[in-house]
Amino acid sequence: MPKLGVNIDHIATIREARKISEPDPIYAALIAEEAGASGITVHLREDRRHIKDRDVILLSQIIKSKLNLEMGLFEDVVDIALQIKPHSVCIVPERREEITTEGGLDVVKYFDDIKKYIETFKKSKICVSLFIDPDLEQIRASREAGTDFVELHTGRYANAVSKEDIDYELQNIKNAAKYTLNLGIGLNAGHGLNYRNVSDIAKIEGMNELNIGHSIISMAVFTGLHEAVRRMVELIK
Ligand code: PXP
Repeated sequence: MPKLGVNIDHIATIREARKISEPDPIYAALIAEEAGASGITVHLREDRRHIKDRDVILLSQIIKSKLNLEMGLFEDVVDIALQIKPHSVCIVPERREEITTEGGLDVVKYFDDIKKYIETFKKSKICVSLFIDPDLEQIRASREAGTDFVELHTGRYANAVSKEDIDYELQNIKNAAKYTLNLGIGLNAGHGLNYRNVSDIAKIEGMNELNIGHSIISMAVFTGLHEAVRRMVELIK
């Protein structure tokens, strides 16, 4: 059974809507762990629009499961990663104007830089994953660059609408998964996975971990809303 890494960025996004101290992503991480998450994932973006330095520092000290730090290759973010030494880093492409991580990392194009950073992280005993599209050329380059894991981008599969497109994207991920394992690289996947589409990805042989955020936090809003309103009504009474 693949492990579940819970991405808690959206908790920080809600906090930043008010720029106060709650809801605190640290508390969310503890709840996710208690519910069975095997890891906590956060993306420390260059513009710090949701997760802040303080969050990753505290998470690295407090959580009992594995901290997976998603990051673009920005010097200040690399410095923080080397300082807090998360269990793993997942290197992602990052553009300021994007709403969420859009495509996979172009390992072929940025090979030398990526290889250099992989060596730096591995010297610090931080496990490295590269977030890439399910593309054989990218997987081959990831292997040559020395990564421990790839995280296959499931966004195109998640966004597909017709049965034909869904089947096509799923087969593409399955082929990429097989190729990854044959090259001796660890296999993770994520992006856009939800309660309707996760099981076909979870069934893929050799899948180590799925990183899921948006759908879990969205579900939490609805499973928690009734109780939240009830408690407030009680207090007002
Ligand atoms: N994996 C990576 C590399 C991501 O950038 C994200 C989004 O932050 C996720 C997984 C989780 O995606 P989602 O929020 O759609 O579940």
